Amino acid sequence: MLTRLTVAFAFSCLSCHLFAQAQQIIIETSQSALVLTVGGNQRVLQSYLGRKLAPAAYAALTGGREVYLTAGMDNQFEPAIRLVHNDGNPSLELKYVSHKTTREHDLTQTDIVLKDPVYPVEVTLHYTAYQNSGVIKSWADILHREKKPVMLTQYASALLHFNSEEYWLTQFHGDWAREVNMVEEKLTNGIKTLESKLGTRTNFYQTQAFFLSLNGKSSETAGELIAGTLAWTGNFQYTFEVDQRNGLRVRSGINAYASEYYLAPGETFTTPAFIFTWTDQGKGQASRNLHTWARNFGVLDGKGPRLTLLNNWEATHTSFNETRLTELFDEGKKLGIDLFLLDDGWFGNAFPRNDDKAGLGDWQEDKKKLPSGLGYLVKEAEKKSIKFGIWLEPEMVNPKSELYQKHPEWILKLPNREENYGRNQLVLDLVNPQVQDFVFAVVDDMMTKNPGIAFIKWDCNRSMTNAYSPYLKEKQSHLYIAYTQGLYKVMERIRAKYPHLPIMLCAGGGGRTDYGAMKYFTEFWPSDNTDGLERIFIQWGYSYFFPSNTISAHVTSMGKLQSLKFRTDVAMMGKMGYDIRVNNFTPQELQFSQEAVKTYKRISETVWFGNLYRLISPYEESRAVLMYVSENKSKAILFNYQLHTRRKDLFGRVQLQGLDPQKKYRFREINLFPDTKSINPDNNKVLTGEYLMNIGLNLAPGRIAPLSSNIFELTEE
Ligand code: GLA
Repeated sequence: MLTRLTVAFAFSCLSCHLFAQAQQIIIETSQSALVLTVGGNQRVLQSYLGRKLAPAAYAALTGGREVYLTAGMDNQFEPAIRLVHNDGNPSLELKYVSHKTTREHDLTQTDIVLKDPVYPVEVTLHYTAYQNSGVIKSWADILHREKKPVMLTQYASALLHFNSEEYWLTQFHGDWAREVNMVEEKLTNGIKTLESKLGTRTNFYQTQAFFLSLNGKSSETAGELIAGTLAWTGNFQYTFEVDQRNGLRVRSGINAYASEYYLAPGETFTTPAFIFTWTDQGKGQASRNLHTWARNFGVLDGKGPRLTLLNNWEATHTSFNETRLTELFDEGKKLGIDLFLLDDGWFGNAFPRNDDKAGLGDWQEDKKKLPSGLGYLVKEAEKKSIKFGIWLEPEMVNPKSELYQKHPEWILKLPNREENYGRNQLVLDLVNPQVQDFVFAVVDDMMTKNPGIAFIKWDCNRSMTNAYSPYLKEKQSHLYIAYTQGLYKVMERIRAKYPHLPIMLCAGGGGRTDYGAMKYFTEFWPSDNTDGLERIFIQWGYSYFFPSNTISAHVTSMGKLQSLKFRTDVAMMGKMGYDIRVNNFTPQELQFSQEAVKTYKRISETVWFGNLYRLISPYEESRAVLMYVSENKSKAILFNYQLHTRRKDLFGRVQLQGLDPQKKYRFREINLFPDTKSINPDNNKVLTGEYLMNIGLNLAPGRIAPLSSNIFELTEE
């Protein structure tokens, strides 16, 4: 049983004599190992993926399945790569040539060079192993020296093999205002595909991350699994192929749909990275591994502070003027937040942006609404000691805009077909370097004119339909890939000039949530649905793969039936902000919110950088309980939410996790509404970590109110 649980994939020594001299390539983190073997035929095989073991244990491993399966020869399963040569030959064989491993601090880099023995094609497989977090990043470089371009029809980032009794796949599907719905199912024979073909806003229907549990379902604290996600802001695809012997191949990469790639001689096709972590400690550990990796390597300024903000979208939509905005600055100041974020509707003159039908593309201040310009607003905010941020959607254009009239050749649209709109807009052709210059200039000109701008919300409100790039001409099958590369080129330029400017990634809610983008962004907007109850599920869903300092959570007036306290407590588990009319608060609500902002600033270090433990899932009970524990275990913040709880619902005690059993903690309810007291029987007690983690707490004492919540602080005494 133990072996079954701890070995995701291992080939045992059935025919050791054949492979006695086989060369092994060991890719290890502090927790896990991926062992590759150079087979007798010089093909590189995956021999093991599982817990890190002593070297002697790996030495007994032999054989395995080909690590980067090719198409056209003996392989009959989904290939990692398929390539058609100049002479029309659609086959590829990849044999080991060399490899090297280098170490630098926390990282071990392994690069394996493979070549076709007949055709001049070379593939280098790259693996970065992050020791501390247990994450492995894997990608490939494809290069050839044939006379003319070769055609690539498949180009995976990684192919992983598994040999377990059962496979349980957890996926996260969604829609606008309904992101990351978690579903777990058992894989059966055949292929299960998770993918996007949307071009832009690619996570609209499917978050590009998954859990794969081996041998049975895993819980938060137990079970063997991998968590995987592709660092790519374009079309992605994961295939899970269970073969006739119950072997599983997981292919991850760019979705090759309508994307044959003509690779020129000497050009390198670099796949995006597949990021994964293996653990036998359940989903909680997998998330903590990814969070640690993300804060250190995956997110821009992942370990830096974040700004609390007041956004005006839900409070005003596009209808505002200077007076209204400066009033809102006052409201922000009253609240104590760091920054005011001006949302959509501030631009366009020939075609003013008074709703979503016009103006996109014309990034000049609307002279009617903002006669004194952005500079004035930045200064007014500064006078009130708050910073100023702004919304942009620079990849898009409305047909009702000057940009559309001036540059029809900059727009993705099919010749001989009617234009097709999403939210009344079209996508710009970011493949075109002139469009890249334009998008860069939208940001750069604005920042040059108004250096005081301290934050950007970068939106992307539609996916591609009827898409055709005038720039690519006959190479249309490069569109999806080249668009994403174009976006990255723009972001590289922005980051070279503005390395630390906080930018929120948004795509009509959580339509773009991936680690390809997050290395340029500080946070993302998970959903336009800000109802507190809904947000518990949405933020819970994203918490599996993203750290809390990236998950923006605003207190709004959506979900009016819920108390302000409940909505605030929900926002506090993420990166808190507001999008609400502060002047409509009752005096008590104002007092509560002012205190909440102060409290959040005090606890945010633990929330953003602590280790997350999800204790009770809203998918399993009518409540959600989670906690963050500081790295040195001296502090913890516990969030407790009752959902549609019924009057006589019975809830068990909640055992905390991640604390030091030897330490003593003062347990105290915080963020109470004015004139209310904690009814928790343990409030203000000093309890040991051992007690808290074994006996646990009653978090539902007395009469339970639906849609109610508590936040508790645990501080080492
Ligand atoms: C999208 C975003 C919202 C808001 C609007 C503005 O829907 O998700 O937060 O910025 O655009 O049009």
